[in-house]
Amino acid sequence: VDPTLDLFGEIERLKKEKNAIVLAHYYQEPDIQDVADYIGDSLGLAQKAEKTDAEIIVFAGVHFMAETAKILNPHKKVLLPDLKAGCSLADSAPPELFRQFKAKHPNHLVISYINCTADIKALSDIICTSSNAEKIVESIPVDQPIIFAPDKNLGGYLIKKTGRDMVLWNGACMVHEIFSLEKITRLKIRHPNAKIIAHPECEEPILRIADFIGSTTGLLKYSQEDAAMEYIVATETGILHQMQKSSPHKMFIPAPPDNSCACNDCPHMKLNTLEKLYLCMEYELPEITMDEQLRVAARKPIERMLEISA
Ligand code: 13P
Ligand code: SF4
Repeated sequence: VDPTLDLFGEIERLKKEKNAIVLAHYYQEPDIQDVADYIGDSLGLAQKAEKTDAEIIVFAGVHFMAETAKILNPHKKVLLPDLKAGCSLADSAPPELFRQFKAKHPNHLVISYINCTADIKALSDIICTSSNAEKIVESIPVDQPIIFAPDKNLGGYLIKKTGRDMVLWNGACMVHEIFSLEKITRLKIRHPNAKIIAHPECEEPILRIADFIGSTTGLLKYSQEDAAMEYIVATETGILHQMQKSSPHKMFIPAPPDNSCACNDCPHMKLNTLEKLYLCMEYELPEITMDEQLRVAARKPIERMLEISA
């Protein structure tokens, strides 16, 4: 791409010319968030994708999110700037192994976190996201045994919150597993008034010391409404852009990872760039396509979630 090209202007032009909407997750790079029509957490994005009347949905996020948008909109074109933008959590549940796991617990109902492939969704009874997970678990009769997949950290957190004894699949997110309890504790000593806010994909010791736990939208809202002036943020760093934008007078410190060579950026989310976003809108590629039978099977548990979360 010509380096003198005004990508922001070009993307705005393409949106109008093609009746396209750009949906972005909070973990996208700041430039992408600034050009998006809607920025949200996984639930907000799925709800927006379900309601839009745009002809093209450009999904600045990862594959399972764009796939969910396609499941809900079979007749619309759904584009993802980089088809390789996957998710370690979704990868942690290969369909064949999950099918065997499910067969070992024949009486269990399956709740799957939206961070999974369409194959796993098709094997699930109901989907949840981090913002409605508690509500979804509580919507299931108490005598009904449950499998929760694929995130064991969110699952463990829900067991504690709801008192339900669920069977957990052993998956986790590579970004939320790397936070250092020791370093966060030390940071808290230097910033005694800072609130620790964490995503429920974090491991239990981090969640134990958190002042607030929530989805990305939940964390952002908390940072806007809470009175503290400093926050240690235990999730992907992309969210700091909106936090800083809406509360410029507050200080947001990314929670430090265990290994100082590591960072809290999601390598999948960060595969998308403004340039790739422009190219995918210009050429309408790469496009999400899927098998119709799989799409129909995967849609059912998502619809069940959307009904409960409406
Ligand atoms: P939410 O934005 O729904 O909290 O999800 C976080 C996440 O890890 C998305 O990949
Ligand atoms: Fe997946 Fe974690 Fe990246 Fe979210 S942050 S897309 S859960 S790897």
